[in-house]
Amino acid sequence: MEGTVNFSAGPSALPAPVVERIREDLPDWNGTGACVAELSHRGEPFMELAAGLEARLRRLMEIPETHRVLFLQGGAQMQFAAVPLNLAGEGGTASYVDTGAWSARAIAEARRFCRVQVAASSEGDGYRSIPPRGEWEVAPESAYLHYVANETIAGVEFGSVPDSGAAPLVSDMSSNLLSRPVDVGRFGVIYAGAQKNMGVSGLTVVLVREDLLDRAHPLTPTVVRYSAQAAAGSMANTPCTFAWYVASLVLEWIEGEGGLTAMAVRNERKASRLYRAIDASDFYSNRIPARCRSRMNVSFELADEALDPAFLEGAAEAGFIGLKGHRALGGMRASIYNAMPERGVERLVAFLEDFERRRG
Ligand SMILES: Cc1ncc(COP(=O)(O)O)c(C=O)c1O
Repeated sequence: MEGTVNFSAGPSALPAPVVERIREDLPDWNGTGACVAELSHRGEPFMELAAGLEARLRRLMEIPETHRVLFLQGGAQMQFAAVPLNLAGEGGTASYVDTGAWSARAIAEARRFCRVQVAASSEGDGYRSIPPRGEWEVAPESAYLHYVANETIAGVEFGSVPDSGAAPLVSDMSSNLLSRPVDVGRFGVIYAGAQKNMGVSGLTVVLVREDLLDRAHPLTPTVVRYSAQAAAGSMANTPCTFAWYVASLVLEWIEGEGGLTAMAVRNERKASRLYRAIDASDFYSNRIPARCRSRMNVSFELADEALDPAFLEGAAEAGFIGLKGHRALGGMRASIYNAMPERGVERLVAFLEDFERRRG
């Protein structure tokens, strides 16, 4: 039997060569005689890793000089608070687009720190779409406009970067960062937890436009204040060194595979293959319109949900893990981030067809 295929939504599969490299490096990283997790973040070997990590991310994403790169902790949900604290100042207003569970969480958290205008919402259709840009109502005094580029739970993704008018654009890219090229210059802030496409949980990447660094509410804690972390090279507190190390290996792997353009082509191919198989059958369905479908998280339902347990049992026997849908939605979800090989998707499609033949 072929090996395990990991469809987990996050934490999720790492590229196989990265796992192998971690195994090799673990007892003696870079000739230091110690595990990377055992070394000071201020020592020369780690400072070198830190500089390389930022340089590589800048190269891969073509991050302009106008933007600072921060490697923080607390996950994307810490950024749900950090964004309004850093950008909305005292008594400010921010606009949010509500396209799913993570948008809703970001909005609820932002309401603790600033006035929130919901510019548009797809809650009415069960978060299965993205309201057309023409229908958004962005408050003219907005300190920023926030959207979630890929809603991981339902599998809804923006196909392009929306126009934010005069307001700085802020995006949670936790589940599609590094999956395709993106014009960073169009954003005020991009943030993402690392545990989908950039390594392991613990690390949160924040790209912030330099001119936005001085807008923080005075009560913003130091470790989440962008200006303080930018001045300290993201070491205002002890960084999650092991996650930085894994991220550097993942970025090296992406570069070796041809960079973000190559990732985009491969991701498009994998997602189309899976949606084609789902659409070709009456036994499986995905009710998200094609223009809003995620290339990263492919959700689907069985026509008869009584068959869900048998499906998951068969999937486990076939070597698949992580296919059960989010507890809020049920059904199934296949997360196929950068690290998912095309062979993994082929095996899933073969399983879908075989299960339908046997049980459909
Ligand atoms: C799009 C998105 N935003 C935010 C989060 C929350 O991340 P965390 O719990 O690591 O803070 C997730 C987690 O899966 C996510 O997918």
